Amino acid sequence: MAIREVLRMGDPRLLRRAAPVEDLRDPALAALLVDMRDTMRSLDGAGLAAPQIGVSLQVVIFGLEHNPRYPDAAPVPDTVLINPVVTPLEEALEEGWEGCLSVPGMRGLVPRWRRIRYEGLDEHGAPMAREVEGFHARVVQHEVDHLLGLLYPMRIRDLRNFGFLDAFEAGRLPGAEPGNGSLSTDAESG
Ligand code: NI
Repeated sequence: MAIREVLRMGDPRLLRRAAPVEDLRDPALAALLVDMRDTMRSLDGAGLAAPQIGVSLQVVIFGLEHNPRYPDAAPVPDTVLINPVVTPLEEALEEGWEGCLSVPGMRGLVPRWRRIRYEGLDEHGAPMAREVEGFHARVVQHEVDHLLGLLYPMRIRDLRNFGFLDAFEAGRLPGAEPGNGSLSTDAESG
């Protein structure tokens, strides 16, 4: 068990395409997942992708318990997702605020598909598939982007909607409405 350093935007390792996991029984995979969980929890994140700790494999974890401060944010089950594929279930995009452990202290307004299907393997190598929307869908798209070498600022359409959290007026994100799928928590999403 180890808390690993999270790479920050600017590190070229965050821009690589991650390779699929070939051997689900590799003990190194189990060790990676332990480190990812320890690291995510230590930073109060809602998600983490393996490339963020310098491992270029298609592995993400995410999950968020119900938070009484944000009662409209639906909880997301603790999930390990390996070799994921994301498919939109409708064309509609929804703008929501995001943060990232690799872009600390900042928030940006990012368009994401509102409803998606995602599939992949769980930590035991069993196939899994879910259809989700809103906040859950946003978290998955954010994490899977890390596997493609994409960080959320690359998807912001209007860079006026990007800045330091503590610099926004009254610490409030403009236009952030409860329940619209925003990661408007003070936890970085991952
Ligand atoms: Ni992130």
